[in-house]
Amino acid sequence: MTSFAIEISDLQKSFGEQIVLDGINLNIQTGSVFALLGPNGAGKTTLINILSTLVKPDKGIARIAGNNVETDVEAVKQSISLTGQSAAVDEVLTADENLRMMGRLSGLSVAASRKRATELLNYFDLTNAAHKRVKTFSGGMRRRLDLALSLVVSRSILFLDEPTTGLDTRSRQALWDIILKLAASGVTIFLTTQYLEEADQLADDIAVIADGRVVAQGTAEELKAQISGEMIELRDENDRIIQSFPTDGTVQDLRRILDEHVENVTNCTHVSIRRPSMDDVFLELTKKKQEVSSK
Ligand SMILES: Nc1ncnc2c1ncn2[C@@H]1O[C@H](COP(=O)(O)OP(=O)(O)O)[C@@H](O)[C@H]1O
Ligand SMILES: [Mg+2]
Repeated sequence: MTSFAIEISDLQKSFGEQIVLDGINLNIQTGSVFALLGPNGAGKTTLINILSTLVKPDKGIARIAGNNVETDVEAVKQSISLTGQSAAVDEVLTADENLRMMGRLSGLSVAASRKRATELLNYFDLTNAAHKRVKTFSGGMRRRLDLALSLVVSRSILFLDEPTTGLDTRSRQALWDIILKLAASGVTIFLTTQYLEEADQLADDIAVIADGRVVAQGTAEELKAQISGEMIELRDENDRIIQSFPTDGTVQDLRRILDEHVENVTNCTHVSIRRPSMDDVFLELTKKKQEVSSK
């Protein structure tokens, strides 16, 4: 048995003249939360569509739980759940009816469908809205129901394509809590996002994709460390920055900076160290990539 839930090797996909995926290589550990981070149009949905057997790659191999997405389609489908930006929710039905219908379509008995619907409504905090028509739902409720629908039958790998895009902060936080709860239950999660903060909050491992290529990969901390942007900031009593200096964060370096500068900066009362934010990292990585490709 492989310890990778998802293995992607030299995956390529073009639409006409446009190269969308230009040789993607990724291995995703079983039981981890993986975030594919990239701007709009980067190829995130295309990659999810290939991994979930909806679109064929032009070249390369992808395996889900050891099964090839092109040749073992049924086995792949058996191991994945998919929730997308375009929800397959029936507006006219209630939340409970949607879930029970999904249960029946997935081969559960009437009784099992009813039981599963009740469990999921509870899990996703939709019990009070169970018998309301979905067309009256807020964006956050809809997204939770969409996710609940994808979990009617439990699978080992869950794809979430931009799960919180367009949601307000509170709904986003509620969905994050659910995703972390699912992750803790052992499900492998592959999510896409345009939000650096989301990748930082949820993922064990992050790959940044730009122009169809993985331009950086690692934990949030590792990505931040790739940018030597750590700064020591000298501040006055009102917490205003007086001066800042780049540092490698070691005690020796901090001591040197303080020795050299603090005496000259009489109004310095305290210092802080700023690590680069994910936004800094993201900008820097995309900039690097553009510099390379314009050479
Ligand atoms: N079926 C398709 N036919 C033609 N072009 C497509 C198709 N699907 C996606 N694209 C193009 O591929 C690029 C990547 O799209 P997509 O994978 O949806 O990006 P993302 O999900 O990162 O926003 C876009 O330029 C998009 O227009
Ligand atoms: Mg997309």
